[in-house]
Amino acid sequence: MKGVILAAGKGSRLYPVTHHIPKPLLPLANRITLAYAFDKLKEIGIREIALVVGENEPLMRERLGDGSEFGIELTYVRQPEPKGLAHAVSFAGDFVNREPFVLYLGDAIYADPLPPFEEKFRSSGCANLNVVKWVEDPSRFGVANLDGDRILRLVEKPAQPESNMAMAGLYFFGPQLWDLLPNLQPSARGEYEITDAIQLLIDAGHLVLAKEHPGEWFDTGTLDSFLQTSRYLCGEDVRLAADAKVQGTVSGHLVVGEGAEVEATSLENVVVLPGARVRVQGSIRDAILGGEVEVSGDVRRQVIWGGESISY
Ligand code: G1P
Repeated sequence: MKGVILAAGKGSRLYPVTHHIPKPLLPLANRITLAYAFDKLKEIGIREIALVVGENEPLMRERLGDGSEFGIELTYVRQPEPKGLAHAVSFAGDFVNREPFVLYLGDAIYADPLPPFEEKFRSSGCANLNVVKWVEDPSRFGVANLDGDRILRLVEKPAQPESNMAMAGLYFFGPQLWDLLPNLQPSARGEYEITDAIQLLIDAGHLVLAKEHPGEWFDTGTLDSFLQTSRYLCGEDVRLAADAKVQGTVSGHLVVGEGAEVEATSLENVVVLPGARVRVQGSIRDAILGGEVEVSGDVRRQVIWGGESISY
């Protein structure tokens, strides 16, 4: 089995830091985000992984190299323009070479072990198995309409969801997908959706299954979700990497990356990126900071790189 990780996105909901560090390389508990994806795929014996990259390709190659640092073998696949998840996958066809593969969205973190999912995919002989998760507000996701563990229908971000089962961004595929991808049409938002590709498998009469992930599932796409994921991994702890320095009162979750220095009256729920120099004449709460930052006044719900800051 092979792995395909999608990591081409611009990370626009985390600008401006993602102008400097691609989202998949942002640190969570002082490890890069993708290290968690690599660990998960290794849990099910996957070593050969294609990373679908975009404009971030040079920075990704520079940091990840051939993958040996992580005990994997990385192949880089370029998605020339962002046109949806199924579009991104289509460029990994030569790499996958019709073997079974796992598709993993590069900013996702899963609490549950993957072997039971892989076991169900293999033993059922299905064309595709999807990790799903019961969520309160499914309209933000691809939504699966199920009969037992069989998916009858999938809708991407429905206004009126027919169930609470969200597609959780982790998919097991057999070779059937490659025969149908060329037939895929763009959705109303102009993207080639992975949910629509899976619907093509269902329409062609293939067995498409779901298995629920009962544990926590996070993605790091927004300031809130990034901080929530970091907090889940670190708890209320303070994590200082080597050579990191902090001056100020810490009242909950703080991560300071390698070589970074931060000075502020108080800090709460803050991630300071490696190498940052942060001086705030006030308190910092709910923020990600990188580069050389000088601010007078309090910082709340901001992503800051150097002199550039965006409130979320
Ligand atoms: C994508 C998929 C969606 C899935 C979600 C999981 O949406 O299109 O079906 O539920 O990932 O995170 P996106 O977040 O890229 O809009």
